[in-house]
Amino acid sequence: MRSWYVAWIAGLGLAAVAQAEETIKIGVVLPYSGVYASLGGDITDGMQLAFDLYGSEIAGRKIVLITEDSEVKPNVGLTKTKKLVFQDKVDLLVGPVASNVAGAMRDFVHNAKIPLIIPNAGNNLLTGEKCSPWVIRTSFSNDQINRVMGPWLYEQGHRTLYLMAADYSAGHQMMEAVRRGFTEAGGEIVGEEYPPLRETKDFAPYLAKVKAIRPDALYVFFAGGLAIQFVKQYQDFGLKGEIPLTGAGWLTSPLFLPAQGTAATGFIGALNYVPTIDSEENRAFQAAFSEKHQRTASEFTVQGFDTGRLIVEALKLTSGKTADKAALVEAIHRVHFTSPRGPFRIDPATNNVIQDIYIFEMRQTGYDIRHVVIDKIADVQDPPNGCKM
Ligand code: BEZ
Repeated sequence: MRSWYVAWIAGLGLAAVAQAEETIKIGVVLPYSGVYASLGGDITDGMQLAFDLYGSEIAGRKIVLITEDSEVKPNVGLTKTKKLVFQDKVDLLVGPVASNVAGAMRDFVHNAKIPLIIPNAGNNLLTGEKCSPWVIRTSFSNDQINRVMGPWLYEQGHRTLYLMAADYSAGHQMMEAVRRGFTEAGGEIVGEEYPPLRETKDFAPYLAKVKAIRPDALYVFFAGGLAIQFVKQYQDFGLKGEIPLTGAGWLTSPLFLPAQGTAATGFIGALNYVPTIDSEENRAFQAAFSEKHQRTASEFTVQGFDTGRLIVEALKLTSGKTADKAALVEAIHRVHFTSPRGPFRIDPATNNVIQDIYIFEMRQTGYDIRHVVIDKIADVQDPPNGCKM
């Protein structure tokens, strides 16, 4: 049984929890089914660990999670969000994983003036043109992770790049970010493909085009089951060792690595966290997580963990009070800490996280396949991108 089973019970409205009027209710909208189900599970596990370590009761009020499955569908995510606000009367919201679901939730949350803490979805607009005082992101923006890679790949000597990503807002925003940096540096995009997010089972037609064009490198964004399938087929197609594979670092997440095995080696990615970060905070975090779950914590776990910690620290600053939402957001802005990923703080100008970005290569040492950090860009902060609070 997963540790957040209790929250599912709360979601069903059982009397024991419903009667606890003094609880702090956090409405969680994450995928527990569909293409990103495992990501939602890791984020929830990370949040629970933070409540275990930093406190699950503030000023006598117990924190209760009410979880809802977004199914990675925008309309479902919005309906579940409304249910959490109107029916469950939650004090704040956490979610979602996917950029398209976040896009669907944004206007409702903004108008309802309920703080939403995004623990994954990178949709640029939500901390850019369509930012809101009530939408805070602890994970990344799609631009923040990918824009560093354009100039970096050019500096490594690549002059032509082929882009491939899941066909929805996140995939397109990420490819735009790398295109901008790479072409400004002098490189050329020689092809691009956007396989469907839900229906893609076979990458062969897309890989055949890459093989024919022979770019200096292939840059991709895939996560969940797509990442596992893509990495295996890239090897099966004979492209591994022929055309360097680079991209957004979720491709070889610790969540997908056991299924990918040695096919993952050689990939070069950019991400806000890798499990091999050499710091006391990261070692303590990985030890605590593996003691509880007997597996490696992923970047999704860390985003959940930092979300939980941010909530606890902010609630301590408000003495557990949640009625004044503006005061709660103001408290969130005052919280700074050292996360397993490095220094963590929320930029009050955009409500997006300011953080280090790691460039890593997947390498095999003995039986181990590891994320080896080869570069780090410190304190990456998004420009306002049209955000006016
Ligand atoms: C997104 O849709 O924003 C997203 C999903 C999975 C990994 C990274 C980003």
